[in-house]
Amino acid sequence: MKKITIAVLLCLIACSAALYAQGTLPSQPLKAGEEQDLFQLDPKPFDPAKEPDSDMFVSHYSDSEMKVTAGCLKEWQIVYPLAGDDPVYPEEKGHYATSITALNYAVLDVGMKTDPERLSGRQKILYIAFGSGEIVNGSQRERIEQDAMILVPENANYTIENTGSRELVMYVIVEPVPDGFKPRADILVRHFTEASFGTGGGHWAHGTRGGTFRQEDGLATITGMTPVWYLPMMLGQPHAHNPGVEEIWFVAEGDFHLLLGKQFFNLAPGTAYKVPPTGSLSHSNMNLGTTPLRTFWLMYNRPTIREKFKYGTLHPNPPTPDESNPDMYISSYKEHYFNTVHSLVERPMLKRNNEKGARPTERGNVLNYIDRYSHAYMMAHQRTVPITLENTQEVYYILSGTATITGGGKTYNLYPGACALVPAGLEFVIDNATEEILEMYLVSEKVTAGFTPNKEILVRDEKTVTVRHKSHWTYESHVLFGRADGLSQLQNVAMVEIPPNSFSQPHSHDEKVEEVWSTIDTGMEFMLGKHVRKIEPGYCYMVPPDGKSFHATYNTTGKTVRTFYFGMYDGTE
Ligand SMILES: [Fe+2]
Ligand SMILES: [Fe+2]
Repeated sequence: MKKITIAVLLCLIACSAALYAQGTLPSQPLKAGEEQDLFQLDPKPFDPAKEPDSDMFVSHYSDSEMKVTAGCLKEWQIVYPLAGDDPVYPEEKGHYATSITALNYAVLDVGMKTDPERLSGRQKILYIAFGSGEIVNGSQRERIEQDAMILVPENANYTIENTGSRELVMYVIVEPVPDGFKPRADILVRHFTEASFGTGGGHWAHGTRGGTFRQEDGLATITGMTPVWYLPMMLGQPHAHNPGVEEIWFVAEGDFHLLLGKQFFNLAPGTAYKVPPTGSLSHSNMNLGTTPLRTFWLMYNRPTIREKFKYGTLHPNPPTPDESNPDMYISSYKEHYFNTVHSLVERPMLKRNNEKGARPTERGNVLNYIDRYSHAYMMAHQRTVPITLENTQEVYYILSGTATITGGGKTYNLYPGACALVPAGLEFVIDNATEEILEMYLVSEKVTAGFTPNKEILVRDEKTVTVRHKSHWTYESHVLFGRADGLSQLQNVAMVEIPPNSFSQPHSHDEKVEEVWSTIDTGMEFMLGKHVRKIEPGYCYMVPPDGKSFHATYNTTGKTVRTFYFGMYDGTE
């Protein structure tokens, strides 16, 4: 039994090396002279023909049948040995393990005690998710409670009793034992009762309390395991693992979100996943909720290749004060005083950064190219004075209410989802003849030298625009205006749909780019730098133009979320 298990393990390791040699991995490691890009993930959309399906590496205990073991222990298997011979393309969901033989979810009812079990050719590691009790091995008797981690060595003959007042809920990891392995004589119980919470786990957000089980402690195959906590609204650094490495996580308590490759998951407690070992498929564990999240990490760390890949890893350092402060780039009209500009009541969303390119010293004072970005109201039964914009153009995206805009002898309707581009040098009037307030986002750009503005107002409807494109894995842009439509500095004004339960490709922008995202619907969330934020309507964010701050707009709701977007990419002024 022992020999067979180890032979399988060795074969699997050899297989993954062979697969790499045959070039069947989704991407190739860097060649000499190539560099890893620590500020972007792979921009190409997910292609199931060329990349593994992350969903095959995610499974929940309820996917399997319950079995009663040791007389009264109810067990459900979550993780199974690899089905097939390709660790990147398992043939069955959840059947991917190459270092362990099982991960089970187990429940022992109140007052129950298991029959004695002697382990041969394998060891078990238990993690107590909830409840308390005792584990007994000969003359050794140990108390176990929530968060305890227990190594039951080969040859132990042990029982578990639930002495508490609620179900004892455990996760059971089964590892094979190699020939010649000398198991420890006693059961090892690690309590975290007095261990303080730290960030020793790294990856931006992993909170650990020390006490990692390692081979020095008596593990036979696995090289490390420990519980990991995530505080609310924190995400882990996306990073990848090379062929030969097996990293498995399970969720013990809380609302868990996971970016695994280019696929986004919301996982319930009792779910486990593995990082497909391609070297370029990244994973990021996230707590996007309001209460702490408890997970468990285990790893077999014997890579068969050590080369790096271009994509799959973002910069590993935790946030430091010398990085752009994302909260300086998040702003709302609700935080600013009003002024009146050509009859509209305006309140700034973002303002100019007085020292272009420098770190902003006031929240929201970040614009380097665009003249101003505001939220504006026009009251009921109000009409603007005739206005002509000098060397400036304005874009109005209507949030609520209805009105008309007239210029160049033509009148156009304004309503929610309509967007108007008013060119420089054309007299126009906005007329709100209704009993409702007209509410809009207003973007103002200076025109560049030698620019020829449109002769007419242009109004487009986000629902009927014909230019649409997908980008950054998930975005669905409804392009309202581009330069060909009469924009001068701006290159793209769009309503961008963020699909339900999706996370876009994290990427960064350099100093030539000015990119702003604003809420229309509720439910807009985003990664900015190494942080995540959730904002209500009336808020926006600009991407810090430092080439290093990641951003991704994502959606954890079951509904499409609309955002108002404008961007320029070539630093023109
Ligand atoms: Fe990892
Ligand atoms: Fe971007």
